Amino acid sequence: MITIFAGKGGVGKTTCAATSALHHSRLGEKTLAISTDATPSLSHIFGVTDNAKPARVKENLYISELGLREVKEMWDRKFGREVYEVFSSFVSIEYEDFLEFMTSLLPGMFDEFMVDYIRELDLASEYETIIWDTAPLGQTLTLLQTPTLVMRHLRMAPRIYSKLKRGQKIKESLMDIIERWHELSETNIDFLRYQVGFIMVTIPEALAIEQLDGVFSELNKFGFKVGELIVNNVVRNADSDFLLTRAKEQTGYLKYIREKFAYLKITELPMFPYELKGLERLKEAEKSLFGSAAEVVAKD
Ligand SMILES: Nc1ncnc2c1ncn2[C@@H]1O[C@H](COP(=O)(O)OP(=O)(O)OP(=O)(O)O)[C@@H](O)[C@H]1O
Ligand SMILES: [Mg+2]
Repeated sequence: MITIFAGKGGVGKTTCAATSALHHSRLGEKTLAISTDATPSLSHIFGVTDNAKPARVKENLYISELGLREVKEMWDRKFGREVYEVFSSFVSIEYEDFLEFMTSLLPGMFDEFMVDYIRELDLASEYETIIWDTAPLGQTLTLLQTPTLVMRHLRMAPRIYSKLKRGQKIKESLMDIIERWHELSETNIDFLRYQVGFIMVTIPEALAIEQLDGVFSELNKFGFKVGELIVNNVVRNADSDFLLTRAKEQTGYLKYIREKFAYLKITELPMFPYELKGLERLKEAEKSLFGSAAEVVAKD
């Protein structure tokens, strides 16, 4: 099972992803939580200092925080030095700088390679559950636009390369690489479409809700299916004027969400009086997200 947690910045994606990963590991499933966030929040939330990828958190639970370095490694494995060799016959450039240049040139490449990385993990069947904690909304949308960006690039590429009078052999190898890239992109989009479940995380506040519609229509456009909506930070048991005011304000938004997304499974996660960090506190969140299922799991 592969699940992506998506949503706007700061709504609780990492918290929900970590809670969900903990739950699945406690059910006895070998679980990997992956983050592609620039700030290492999964290791922070689980209190893991080991830099290994993956790093072990506890029995059945592993985390992997991937960055530019891993993407470069993936580029290396997928396309090797072929592109570099063609490229460096025109421009004098070191291999490292070339990789840096390529990853910055195509904004969707990072995300696309991440999808590819997860797809390969899935094929290797080492984990029963993979949970992907995505970076905030902006980058999630980049991810969705990747095929369009790649296609645009692909359409231009042959014209550019055909102008290069560098011999038929180079042209052919470039076309070959582009074709492989195109296929990779298609495979990855299909993987997201058919093998991956999306869980959207939001909070009962105006801006977050306004942005939800946009994200849902983007996802629909690509045929990606959201199976669940988590509404985080819901104020419960308000016992002060401060919280009562917050709770009252949330009431309208919660009603709107429940009606508008009635076709989805909606789960509410209360606002806790403490930050959700460390296994014990995540187990509290687990009770809210998984209800009675959280109680039947092993008592560890
Ligand atoms: N239900 C909650 N009750 C109390 N604190 C919470 C709750 N959910 C999240 N938090 C806290 O809010 C902060 C932001 O949560 P989190 O890091 O999970 O958000 P995020 O969506 O992953 O953020 P980013 O977009 O930056 O990756 C964290 O400090 C977390 O402990
Ligand atoms: Mg996060």
